[in-house]
Amino acid sequence: MNSKLPWFSPSSFPLYLAPMAGVSDKIFRQLCKERGADVLVTEFVSSEGVFRRNERTREYLDFDECERPIGVQLFGGNAEHMAEAAKHVVDWVRPDFIDLNFGCPVNKVVAKNGGSALLKDCPTLAAVAQAVVRAVAPLPVTAKIRIGWDTDSINAPRVARILEDTGILAVAVHGRTRDQGYSGAADWGVIGEVVEAVSIPVVGNGDLTSGPVVAKRRAETGISGAMIGRAAMSSPWIFSQVKHYFLTGEHLVSPGLAEKWALIQRHCQLAVQEWGCEDQAIRSMRARLMAYSKGFPNSKMLREKFQHVATLAQIDEIAWQHMAPQEAAI
Ligand SMILES: Cc1cc2nc3c(=O)[nH]c(=O)nc-3n(C[C@H](O)[C@H](O)[C@H](O)COP(=O)(O)O)c2cc1C
Repeated sequence: MNSKLPWFSPSSFPLYLAPMAGVSDKIFRQLCKERGADVLVTEFVSSEGVFRRNERTREYLDFDECERPIGVQLFGGNAEHMAEAAKHVVDWVRPDFIDLNFGCPVNKVVAKNGGSALLKDCPTLAAVAQAVVRAVAPLPVTAKIRIGWDTDSINAPRVARILEDTGILAVAVHGRTRDQGYSGAADWGVIGEVVEAVSIPVVGNGDLTSGPVVAKRRAETGISGAMIGRAAMSSPWIFSQVKHYFLTGEHLVSPGLAEKWALIQRHCQLAVQEWGCEDQAIRSMRARLMAYSKGFPNSKMLREKFQHVATLAQIDEIAWQHMAPQEAAI
């Protein structure tokens, strides 16, 4: 067992819910945890926001005890500020680990030398990692990277070694370059090279959509855990399906329509409770509802209806209309 990251052991293969800004909030994290996610990470949080004690930033740090083990993900390109911010976060919310974002491709973040920009600036990346590791010790610090800035500068194995040398205890690798954004396929060959390059656990990420896909990638690369993002947005039950496949070698069928609708309705109810304003909460759920609609019968019509929802009653009505007749009758 890894004493600082006890969810890694020779016999375990932890499943992480990927940090996703605007998606992996407290409610969604808990829904995924109930469905088998082992390790959770917050949406990325700006170190500058923490540093300036921004109220909105404080909200992103909120989590419940049932979510442990949970990491708070920080981004920023200033080592001193990152260290200071990490210390504040630890004092405020006591996460199980701090995760450093070296993968975000968004211009606004990259322009300030944050996220994937640091893949091009290894001295600053090392300085940020080292400063945070020292600032929060003995709390573990992990990192999430992409495989490089662009196809001409793929350097994830070297970056991972640098991170290991600074005391980073695990690294999650999204198998795309910054230039790729979310297009093209994740390059699992490079993820395998990272596993070869370091002795800390490597968590593989990118296009994991089912138990057989995770098993194949694990066998090919020797990753110590898997991180699932977009597939969980439409199918939060994917974690239990992957676990079932690992245990039995069989595919666990997805929940029936009635169970899926119950989950959607519960997600919406929890959002209303959290926001304290039904209209705002349901409007904020529209993008999430679009993701849930993937794979539903009549999904085009469903998406059109979801574009206009603003109340729980409307969600209930749509659920009723779109449930298979035999299931709606139960
Ligand atoms: C809407 C969205 C928001 C994301 N936000 C973050 C983030 O805050 N921090 C981060 O490290 N990665 C973020 N990512 C990247 C994911 O964590 C993950 O690396 C990527 O989606 C690839 O995994 P997947 O193929 O399983 O989705 C985000 C991805 C999406 C789709």
